[in-house]
Amino acid sequence: MASEIRTVGVVGLGAMGAGIAQLCVEAGVETVGREVTAELGEKARDRIAHFLTRKVEKGQLGQDARDAAVARVALTTDLADLAGCDLVIEAIVEELVPKQELFAELERICRPDTVLATNTSALSVTEIASATSSPERVVGMHFFNPAPLMPLVEIVRAERSADAAFDAAYAFGEKLGKHPIRCHDTPGFVVNRVLIPLLNDCVRVLDEARVTVEDLDAGMKHGAGWPMGPCELLDLVGIDVHVHASEALWAKLREPRMAAPARLVAMANAGLLGRKSGHGFYTYE
Ligand code: CAA
Repeated sequence: MASEIRTVGVVGLGAMGAGIAQLCVEAGVETVGREVTAELGEKARDRIAHFLTRKVEKGQLGQDARDAAVARVALTTDLADLAGCDLVIEAIVEELVPKQELFAELERICRPDTVLATNTSALSVTEIASATSSPERVVGMHFFNPAPLMPLVEIVRAERSADAAFDAAYAFGEKLGKHPIRCHDTPGFVVNRVLIPLLNDCVRVLDEARVTVEDLDAGMKHGAGWPMGPCELLDLVGIDVHVHASEALWAKLREPRMAAPARLVAMANAGLLGRKSGHGFYTYE
């Protein structure tokens, strides 16, 4: 595997992909971001530039360092432009078949020593890797939302991951200033295995205890020390994303707590997706 990660490709520049690309350029790594349209790519670069400018305004980053970081973002719509990358991190839609197709394509495009990582939160890294003929170079690198702020990255060993790829991903997590933890490829890995049913419990308690959204959030913040309430967190993650992840865990583990509560499914169907749609449990400007 590539002994040093100098150039990274990030495929999919939504909230997670843009956050991961931001971390890479802040760490001094040349980063090629791929989106399906140039407009979506520009939107992601604007988002990265915005958050880095806020760091300058708050005295957390120098202007020159900010400008250099923004300049390290290269945008493309063509996957072939990732050919020179030492590591590619995938952050596209959370569906198995598109991810498998992408990894098969990346295998064709990239050097044999390029490490291929998926940021999947609830799918099987092993199943994604199985679409390639070199599954030993595929690992999970699971970041948390918002990626630039959350210190954790789960480094996930799939059934056929090679030590070299796993170690390279771990070292790169450290280079990004994250706290990496090692785990195996089980449904939900470590944090989501615990957090997803817990958030589902919180939503069920909303109805059972006839508590308001605000009071439930206050309860978990002030009674359990959470940095934000469960409803605020679901709005941040995205109701649709959470429902999708719940369904993936439920499909694998069949534990009733994994299944998304009807209230969340109804919200997702109604387009009440949280912060990104302007409406979820709360309303956003
Ligand atoms: N990307 C980059 N920078 C961001 C950002 C983002 N998405 N969001 C905020 N920032 C920057 C902003 O510049 C912000 O400063 P300004 O508002 O002054 O511009 C700065 O970060 C600090 O933001 P906050 O003041 O809001 O920071 P905070 O101290 O209130 O902490 C928090 C925010 C870290 C999100 C904290 O509330 C927290 O830890 N919440 C819990 C989040 C959590 O549990 N995440 C995991 C979700 S589960 C998951 O991700 C798994 C999955 O697979 C779905």
